[in-house]
Amino acid sequence: MDNLNVLIIGRGGREHAIAWKTAQSPLVSKIFVAPGNAGIAESFECINIDETDTEKLLLFAKEQSIHLTIVGPEGALMSGIVDEFRKNNLRIFGPTQNAAQIEGSKQFSKELMQKYRIPTAAFEVFDNYENAKQYLHSKGAPIVIKYDGLAAGKGVVVATTTEEADRALQGMLLHNKFGKGKVVIEEFLSGPEFSLMAFVHNETVLPLSIAQDHKRAFDGDTGPNTGGMGAYTPVPIIPQTAVDEAVNTIMRPTAKAMVDSGTPFTGILYGGLILTEDRPKVIEFNARFGDPETEVVLPKMKSDMIEIILELLDGQTPEIEWHENAFLGVVMASKGYPAEFEKGIEIEIGGEEGRKEKGERNTLNSYSIKAPLVETFHCGTAKINGKWVNNGGRVLMVVGGGATLENAKENAYQKVKQINSDNLFYRNDIGWQSLLNN
Ligand code: AMP
Ligand code: GLY
Repeated sequence: MDNLNVLIIGRGGREHAIAWKTAQSPLVSKIFVAPGNAGIAESFECINIDETDTEKLLLFAKEQSIHLTIVGPEGALMSGIVDEFRKNNLRIFGPTQNAAQIEGSKQFSKELMQKYRIPTAAFEVFDNYENAKQYLHSKGAPIVIKYDGLAAGKGVVVATTTEEADRALQGMLLHNKFGKGKVVIEEFLSGPEFSLMAFVHNETVLPLSIAQDHKRAFDGDTGPNTGGMGAYTPVPIIPQTAVDEAVNTIMRPTAKAMVDSGTPFTGILYGGLILTEDRPKVIEFNARFGDPETEVVLPKMKSDMIEIILELLDGQTPEIEWHENAFLGVVMASKGYPAEFEKGIEIEIGGEEGRKEKGERNTLNSYSIKAPLVETFHCGTAKINGKWVNNGGRVLMVVGGGATLENAKENAYQKVKQINSDNLFYRNDIGWQSLLNN
């Protein structure tokens, strides 16, 4: 199968990386991104349809004879886009609304893990404040309080004292800070965290190279939690034996559990894992590509991603090949993020990429399986009078590649320093956990 038309849904750095990787497939002739962003629009055709407007996306996919749709953000999955596309016999890579609960409902994912003995923190679910408080006091601190539902990354409190945990419970259960919902109270786990994504179709699981995200805003893992300030792959502080154990005791059993419980999973299963002294355990599952992990993991992938996805959906078990190189990406964010920030302030991006991409819209003559040395993915940019400006919290993700993690880091930061804006900030220590240990 070739001459494929591919539709990518979403508007961030993750979707830019998915489109970039898709463009390297000789099977593909046209790529559309809905809605995309100004940076993505430099090289791909962006369609002004919102991620959750399933009806319009469906119509567009039919009109343009889209052969494969890849879904980025969780919102679209949870609103049931996969179910609708499938009903209309359109091929789409992502989980159904029911299967996406593995991300959307902490209660669903925790109960699945408990039932199928998938290693995770011990937990209880509460909707009543008094009961929750009683349980909290029986366990003591440190302890973790999680709102059960989407809370824009703010629904997790890792409390070091019972007072702090109690305040979180009051906010979530008495004052409905995120809406009327349940709360999961769970055991505090410690160890290095890593992200293990896999292409999954029913019981078939193809693990990707592991990555590490940096959730805090500032150097030294300080400041507020963000969507992620940078990532790198591979992660040398996590031994291969632990990765293999995670694949065999977490990812494969979870895919099987989803099949056995009547919610078979197709798409990217993202394990947010922690390597405790005991073994790898699950902190959370996501039902989609991680952001910013995808921006480093896809450059590391040597295989044709589209071929892999099509074979997987066809019931086959293809092998994924990887570049030897390491990749490290630095997020450049708007000053003020993750709180309030100003938009529309100029950024000078400069460099080769801006020029190289011009005029390549949908011609896809950039086919190459070479590992890149530097790629700039746009997370939240706009163009005003021909000039780049910031248009989101996370603005750019600059990814460097190299023979070692150190080389990858040098290449990434060299490019970061060429990007000028008074309004952007970034972390200087992406990769620190692994680089300190080398
Ligand atoms: P989440 O929003 O679920 O990704 O959680 C955000 C962060 O909270 C994670 O990356 C962990 O650093 C921390 N966290 C969540 N659950 C636990 C846990 N059970 N033990 C220790 N840290 C946790
Ligand atoms: N990087 C974490 C996430 O995508 O949720």
